[in-house]
Amino acid sequence: MAALHANVRSFKTLDLYPKRSAPPRTWARFRCSATAPPRPRSYSVTLLPGDGIGPEVVSIAKDVLSVAGSHEGIEFRFREMPVGGAAIDSIGVPLPEETLAAAKESDAVLLGAIGGYKWDGNEKHLKPETGLLQLRAGLGVFANLRPAAVLPQLVDSSTLKKEVAEGVDIMVVRELTGGIYFGKPRGFGTNDKGEDIGFNTEVYSASEIDRIARVAFEVARKRRGKLCSVDKANVLEASMLWRKRVTMLASKFSDVQLSHMYVDNAAMQLIRDPKQFDTIVTNNIFGDILSDEASMLTGSIGMLPSASVGESGPGLFEPIHGSAPDIAGQDKANPLATVLSAAMLLRYGLGEENAAKRIETAVMETLNRGFRTGDIISTGMTLVGCKRMGVEVLRSVDSQTALTASL
Ligand code: IPM
Ligand code: MG
Repeated sequence: MAALHANVRSFKTLDLYPKRSAPPRTWARFRCSATAPPRPRSYSVTLLPGDGIGPEVVSIAKDVLSVAGSHEGIEFRFREMPVGGAAIDSIGVPLPEETLAAAKESDAVLLGAIGGYKWDGNEKHLKPETGLLQLRAGLGVFANLRPAAVLPQLVDSSTLKKEVAEGVDIMVVRELTGGIYFGKPRGFGTNDKGEDIGFNTEVYSASEIDRIARVAFEVARKRRGKLCSVDKANVLEASMLWRKRVTMLASKFSDVQLSHMYVDNAAMQLIRDPKQFDTIVTNNIFGDILSDEASMLTGSIGMLPSASVGESGPGLFEPIHGSAPDIAGQDKANPLATVLSAAMLLRYGLGEENAAKRIETAVMETLNRGFRTGDIISTGMTLVGCKRMGVEVLRSVDSQTALTASL
């Protein structure tokens, strides 16, 4: 429990936009205090189950949200919309307009996973992944928080030696709406020898770097006060600007100890000595790669949630794993990453800290009671499927005695 809480503690007090007179909607909810007016206790959540194991894990997270919410007097209005391959099959595009509109209108968005073999050969505009990128851009969620904490119950599931993995508690802050994923020019063409080429552009503006760096400094400040900015400033101009802007901003966060690391070294250090890291901030593509790597320190990518937030509007909450088409529909998926994403939704999206803690406590209790899906099974534990894991988490939510106001 401590590890998870350490990852996210006190985030609700973040003050990321001190100069604005009216706080933006998403972050406003972090600043719930005794003096704040009573918050609405009814929220609309757009559910985007997506493809593969997405529908299985989202259905469990939805039930857990409802039950944990009901213990705190919170009601949810859920609206399920298609995205990814499911949307391509039913509507013809990976992000239908109605889906984006519903997401924008809601208080928070919970996504399962997108993609699958079936659509792998599609043209780019008809790939499920394109829908996810359009959704992130459409919601303006530029800051992606990906915690990777090794839970004491799962330390033996890590492929690293126990002494290396034990106690790891990292937060990767990934820039999510810029860089090479979105940079122009991009496309296919021919070079002067008439040969086919494919090309992309890694580009960052100063303001894009500043806003993600500011989030990362704030996150680091609430954790152990260490921020490592990962780039490739020995080669790439976009990284040179990145390093310059992050360094400039550091003077405003003198309580945070800033370091810089090249991405190749960071990939190595994450395996060699992961405990040296507290908070990592990096661009879109390095963050994609390093967060998968960091997830494996913890034993299974099936455990890791994420939160994506912007300056205003609803946040997007999703497990960092993919759609796992090889086990889809077989009741084998681990729903805990999505359940923990629902906890992040409550904390970061709605400012509902108590309900978030209820879910995280229930997940820990379920693991303590020995229940494991196939990806995290170890000797002496009880192997369960996705549904049963959900039932056990719900049982833990229900069995919690009234949590004290201090929670
Ligand atoms: C992730 C995924 C996505 C990404 C894909 C599915 C587009 O790998 O969320 O990490 O590359 O961002
Ligand atoms: Mg990825």
